[in-house]
Amino acid sequence: MRLDLELEGLCLKTSKIPKFYEKSLGERLAEIKEFGELSEEETALLGKYGNLDFETANRMIENVFSTFPLPLGIATNFVVNGREVLVPFALEEPSVVAAASNSAKLCSGFEAKASEPIMIGQVQIVGFKTGAKARAGLKKIMSRKKGILEKAMSVDSTLVKFGGGPRKLEGKVISTKAGKMIIVHLLVDVRDAMGANAVNTMCERISPLLEEISGGKTRLKIISNLAVHRTVKAKGIWKKEVLGKEVIDAVLDAYEFAANDEFRACTHNKGIMNGIDAVAIATGNDWRAIEAGAHAYAAREGNYGPLTHYEKDADGNLAGTIELPMAVGTVGGSIGSNQVAKIALKILGAKSGKELAMAIACVGLANNFAALRALSTSGIQKGHMRLNARNLAAAAGAQGKEIEEVAASLEKEGVYKAERAREILKIIRSK
Ligand code: MEV
Repeated sequence: MRLDLELEGLCLKTSKIPKFYEKSLGERLAEIKEFGELSEEETALLGKYGNLDFETANRMIENVFSTFPLPLGIATNFVVNGREVLVPFALEEPSVVAAASNSAKLCSGFEAKASEPIMIGQVQIVGFKTGAKARAGLKKIMSRKKGILEKAMSVDSTLVKFGGGPRKLEGKVISTKAGKMIIVHLLVDVRDAMGANAVNTMCERISPLLEEISGGKTRLKIISNLAVHRTVKAKGIWKKEVLGKEVIDAVLDAYEFAANDEFRACTHNKGIMNGIDAVAIATGNDWRAIEAGAHAYAAREGNYGPLTHYEKDADGNLAGTIELPMAVGTVGGSIGSNQVAKIALKILGAKSGKELAMAIACVGLANNFAALRALSTSGIQKGHMRLNARNLAAAAGAQGKEIEEVAASLEKEGVYKAERAREILKIIRSK
């Protein structure tokens, strides 16, 4: 129950709501309404459900009281390995879908390649008094590889049925402030799943055996999001006849900036992740895992750098490439419970995790190319302002065709203010 303490005229609220998870939806909303001082209208809005109903959402995460809406847009013009692809994006940022579509239109087609879907599970083993003891423990583990892999194999029969399963065992000894530790890597082929559940379960399953063999104590047993064995590469060519030599040189200058300055590389990669995350979200994938993996990969050589690379090919065209880990699936996880994610995958036509990974990499490259082209030539504010003008027009009450008319006037005047949008609308309506 909520406790509101009246103290010297101050209402002290508490976020401690015991057994919130046991409350009905109505009770949850009532608690939140009171705490957040929400109006009846605001509470009623939270009670509206779209494609994800309360029961499903409540099975996906804990303490659900509503769902969160995001626009779902489609990026057009993508041709990946000769296949025409429409790509669903779920995100709130203007211009990202348009930028990806436009880059894909200018590109003479993308070629992509994904590695096998091998994820790494890590088991940490502690309790070694000396480095020699830890190294001896590791040696014993490595001599029993076969049995350990068999133990891991006994976990996930579905994965094995579809041709996946544990593949390899690797290990190392690390020196830390807390002493020497053995770190075991269990490499697992997760097929078309994101893989975290299967890998984590396998790591937990082999952990008693690892303790028995090494004489140490296992602590963490968890997947690594730095999926260096599950990577994707994509390449796009933008012809010099299409872009012009000046634009190509401008994009190359922009790329060199990112390649030599980590402040710029971070923003450069953010633009790449704009599209990648949006597709990951639309398809029900764990975009936080992809983000973590991407940035760790960007720093794998010691310095943080761009995930893309640009150069001129022998004919003077702009050749762009991207390479990053891509742990995405088409089955399992939240994908199964989210109908919209399933439909998004169907639109994409991705029949496997690898196919999805390839489309996503092309999107990342396309968004990056669009950003570099805009930033190194006219700047990105122009495109943003167009959308901004439309939003201002709609907020001013413009309907249908009026939105474009008001937006066009705002753009022409270069004034992006709500008040001016209202004035222009008044003028249009008075005509
Ligand atoms: C904005 O969301 C993304 C950009 O900042 C990316 C970039 O600077 O390359 C435009």
